[in-house]
Amino acid sequence: MEYERSVSAPSHELSPETVWHIQMPQIRFGRNATDELAFQLHDLGVDEGAHGLIVTDKNLANIGHAGRIEDHLTENEFTVDIYDGSEREPSISAIENCLEFVRDEKSEAGYNFFVGLGGGSCLDTAKATRAVIANGGSPLDYIAEPTGEGKALDESGPPLVLMPTTAGTGAEISPVAILSVAEKDIKEGISSNHIRADAAVLDPTLTTTLPPDLTAKTAMDALGHAMEGYTTHEYDSLLRPTDPAERPVYAGRTPLTEMFSKKAIDLLSNNVRKAVHNGDNLEARENMLQGALFGAIAGLTAGASLCHAMAYPVGNKYHTYHGETIAVLTPASTIDYNSANDPERFASLARRFGVDTAGMNPREAADALKDEYVQLQRDLNVLPSGLNDLAGITEDEVDWLAKQTVDTQARLLRCNPRPVTEEDVYDIFVDALYNWED
Ligand SMILES: [Fe+2]
Repeated sequence: MEYERSVSAPSHELSPETVWHIQMPQIRFGRNATDELAFQLHDLGVDEGAHGLIVTDKNLANIGHAGRIEDHLTENEFTVDIYDGSEREPSISAIENCLEFVRDEKSEAGYNFFVGLGGGSCLDTAKATRAVIANGGSPLDYIAEPTGEGKALDESGPPLVLMPTTAGTGAEISPVAILSVAEKDIKEGISSNHIRADAAVLDPTLTTTLPPDLTAKTAMDALGHAMEGYTTHEYDSLLRPTDPAERPVYAGRTPLTEMFSKKAIDLLSNNVRKAVHNGDNLEARENMLQGALFGAIAGLTAGASLCHAMAYPVGNKYHTYHGETIAVLTPASTIDYNSANDPERFASLARRFGVDTAGMNPREAADALKDEYVQLQRDLNVLPSGLNDLAGITEDEVDWLAKQTVDTQARLLRCNPRPVTEEDVYDIFVDALYNWED
């Protein structure tokens, strides 16, 4: 594919980027932060007596998290309905089901506020639902062409607070909702600052119920955001847009994202084994949730790139979890392929992972990082050893995956720090078939 990071300014006006920008929801973090949800809503201008919707799934309703939040809001004079029909990796029709619920209960006026509770799928369902209620029409109207109509969101809608129950996706702060389009076998995002939540309330006590396999999978997604953010291109390697509104959502790494990605890698790599093997360890859970938040602030601002681009076609075709797909693809894509672009940076990433790189040249240190990352996956004991183990994928299927990646994920591939062709993507998929021998 054509590799370009250009903006739409005429060529005589092109100049290097000199400005960076970050936009975040309000963030409230800590043990039992849930007890401050009512305060958070008041702070967003939601008055007592307002009628809101909690968007979640059946599991979180059954284990009592949705009820805990409903009780808290009711005690604080709000009226609340619960929609527990969110699906994993939500499809367009899953969003339409939630929209129908809202329109049946409240007609087009919708609710006064929304609370998304759960993993990334629940949070994205809440984000997409609020966006369509506020802007009218259907989800496909706002998905990029040619899959959707590519219409811009003009309104954010009523206040939306997101409460993650996994330490991983970063959906609570990101400006995108990822939806699968079943008829086309692809995943697409509705991407806009208007889809971003108004506040994120992160409470580690909501994450201790997550079982070991989901803890590991979501952690590898978080680590992927931190690593991609740490190793992507710098913001000033882009061109400066004439109109600031044209500055891309994923705009490269900045001094701010650099700080967050380093801290995220430290927190995640030092706590993931503890959180997976002892889920009740609240300190480890808190560190993981913080690490995932920091990884998202870094990676989902600087930009997810090649690994995420390759993960979406895999997830959509084989219905694998996003985090385990990221885990399987990271060694071949983020580490092996991209490190050729800037081995020094990967050597410093290796040191953050605790690798003793003394006496190694940067290339050797990057290789040692790959070994360390694979060892981490093996230690967690619940992750697949490659694409083949993940979903029985063989070399025969890689052609299709490479083509899909290039055809549907240009938005992410354009952010990759190293130019990438369809042939490169093919080779990286082949590399990722087997990361280790069982
Ligand atoms: Fe991700």
